Amino acid sequence: KRLILIGPPGSGKGTQSPIIKDEYCLCHLATGDMLRAAVAAKTPLGIKAKETMEKGELVSDDLVVGIIDEAMKKPSCQKGFILDGFPRTVAQAQKLDEMLQKQGTKIDKVLDFAIDDSILEERITGRWIHASSGRTYHTKFAPPKVHGIDDVTGEPLMQRKDDTAEVLKSRLQAFHKQTEPVIDYYKQKGVVAKLPAEKPPKEVTVEVQKVLSQ
Ligand code: AP5
Ligand code: ZN
Repeated sequence: KRLILIGPPGSGKGTQSPIIKDEYCLCHLATGDMLRAAVAAKTPLGIKAKETMEKGELVSDDLVVGIIDEAMKKPSCQKGFILDGFPRTVAQAQKLDEMLQKQGTKIDKVLDFAIDDSILEERITGRWIHASSGRTYHTKFAPPKVHGIDDVTGEPLMQRKDDTAEVLKSRLQAFHKQTEPVIDYYKQKGVVAKLPAEKPPKEVTVEVQKVLSQ
């Protein structure tokens, strides 16, 4: 399967991705995770993206399209993939279509994580992540066994620099202005499935499974 997960910051894309990935043996390509790794490693790409990400704005289309083009060549992505956080502009969606056309494939489903903005601040400000695996926790909704420690590796958890109420405002603005039109773009192709993303994580998983079994 070739899937796209679209939704505002904190809607649950990164939480559901590993579950879908394991169930369907897909590769998980999250542009946000890849950019954060580049920032941490201080690569030329990371140095370019850092400031924009900290402001909660979108980095340039060329930059992320380049990352995805490269990542999709991995053998593990040939059977199918989950795109999490990409495409985020109509221009990115058009580029992706071109890439897939060349391979003779197309997107099977776009999962639209629909949720009210008012719920997101609590989700974002309570999030803790395990940077190397991408595992996500929440102080209230999904606490780790030991505060600040990853359940699996015992390594320390961290908070994202853009996970403040202030930066969330710009991220939401970018979502409504630049990313919502991407949902309409795929609606015209008839591949969008709307999910009730305000439900508890396990219930969202059940909804995702329903859509993917169709
Ligand atoms: P990115 O990393 O993609 O961030 P985002 O889109 O803002 O999304 P989040 O990761 O915040 O949300 P999520 O839906 O994954 O939430 P999660 O599941 O973790 O992008 C970051 C930045 O990189 C962008 O601002 C931009 O600068 C740049 N960038 C990335 N891609 C780009 C692109 N294509 N073009 C241009 N720029 C790009 O959940 C959040 C919290 O809630 C967690 O703590 C979790 O435990 C909890 N939670 C999850 N689900 C539930 C639930 N159902 N109930 C209760 N709590 C829940
Ligand atoms: Zn995420």
